[in-house]
Amino acid sequence: MTAVGAAHTVNSNSFELRESRIPTVRTHAMPAEAARDRPALLGAAHLDLGEYSDDVRNHSLIERRMQHVANSVLFFHDPIKLVRGEGVWLYDDADRPYLDCYNNVASVGHCHPDVVSALTEQAGRLNTHTRYLHEGVVEYAEKLTSLMPDGLDVCTFVCTGTEANDLALRIARTVTGNDGVVVMEGGYHGNSSTVDALSLLIHPASDDRPDWVEAVEPPNTYRGSYRRDRDDELGARYADLVAEATERLDARSHGTAAFLCDTIFDSHGGLAAPTDYFARAYEHVRAAGGLCIADEVQAGLARTGRWWGFEHYGVVPDIVTLGKPMGDGHPIGIVITSREIAQKFAANAFYFNTFGGNPVSAAVGRTVLDICERNDLPQRCQDTGALLLTRLGELQQRHPIIGDVRGLGTFIGVELVRDNESLTPATELARQIPDAMKDRGVLIGLSGRYGNVLKIRPPLVFGPDEIDLLVETLDAVLADLPAEA
Ligand SMILES: Cc1ncc(COP(=O)(O)O)c(C=O)c1O
Repeated sequence: MTAVGAAHTVNSNSFELRESRIPTVRTHAMPAEAARDRPALLGAAHLDLGEYSDDVRNHSLIERRMQHVANSVLFFHDPIKLVRGEGVWLYDDADRPYLDCYNNVASVGHCHPDVVSALTEQAGRLNTHTRYLHEGVVEYAEKLTSLMPDGLDVCTFVCTGTEANDLALRIARTVTGNDGVVVMEGGYHGNSSTVDALSLLIHPASDDRPDWVEAVEPPNTYRGSYRRDRDDELGARYADLVAEATERLDARSHGTAAFLCDTIFDSHGGLAAPTDYFARAYEHVRAAGGLCIADEVQAGLARTGRWWGFEHYGVVPDIVTLGKPMGDGHPIGIVITSREIAQKFAANAFYFNTFGGNPVSAAVGRTVLDICERNDLPQRCQDTGALLLTRLGELQQRHPIIGDVRGLGTFIGVELVRDNESLTPATELARQIPDAMKDRGVLIGLSGRYGNVLKIRPPLVFGPDEIDLLVETLDAVLADLPAEA
């Protein structure tokens, strides 16, 4: 067993959130025959039992899962059977530790004791649907809206990011009277019928889309149509694409109900847009009569170094949708908008959600916010992210395969290319990296249109010692890569 970065210790002040130690990471090599093709965008996932070698650990559990659990996508060729988590660490059934660098759900750390006790305490006292008065639910809404810009005053609680986006679209359509929606090519927003139609990652072919959907190119200044090394006025150019999309919706008599955009561009490998992009795009959308919806399911809650991703761009959306990190693993989704918009919607439509905003969820959500505030996680993510970008930038000097290192806060994309002139994606090599990192005890994912962007998105409580371990491991994995054919 070799240990990667075994000498790390945790600063006592770096992790108030969970008393933790950096465990010794043991390597675990995947059987050679398991190294086959894999869908890049799913981070080395398989969809078919036949693709797993009989030698893969937990093969029989995979087989049982395939029999009775629908849509059995699993990460890694030799999937991990996790049995417990603590802070930034996950442990498998052989008590092997993995540094979790790919988790936007366990935001304040796996099994944070305050979250666990808030959940169990409230579950032991009362949990009902949302048609009774409850102090905790109102307090949670008050706290959440106090962290939003003025004017975003009213919460509707749901259970998932999909539900939040679905409701946001209903609100936008009801309030504007239009039905067209502008989204990013290659984006993801969820899985209800309406939201699935807007998740163009799933519908790359333009003839596989309803007439009311309009797609625009994401503002990728590294490899998009307008690039930072050769073009100027990037924000205006990419935002003009949004204006053109609204014109096409008008021409087809849909009008624009909404511009729905993930403010960290998760499925595009995590992009930092030009700073004026959103202000200009929002101006175009509002001029067309539409509402601006910030999908903060990935960017929200401190990750980008601000409470919310849109804050980097000096804009105030009309509707904000929240999900994944809000409950540290407990399902919480939220739609936040202005009182005026909420009232217009309520006057014209009915919405009820049995579980959204129940007292247990409210207790969990409130505790997560308290932990973020107490530990100043927005600032901490800003600092951690800056250090991580610096360290990955150093790695880029040694490994020419790294074409771009980018991100905001602790949402980082590392784009791999075959050469830095043509920017040909190093897709085949990138595909090998999550497995190889996992074998060395570090979990990361893949993203981007070509599946060539390493996605690094650790729990918010990641610190300098964990950065050392991540970067050293990635350094070793990149050094071991074969030359791409
Ligand atoms: C940007 C974004 N929006 C919405 C969703 C949907 O959230 P959920 O899976 O909770 O429905 C996701 C899920 O990955 C997402 O990445």
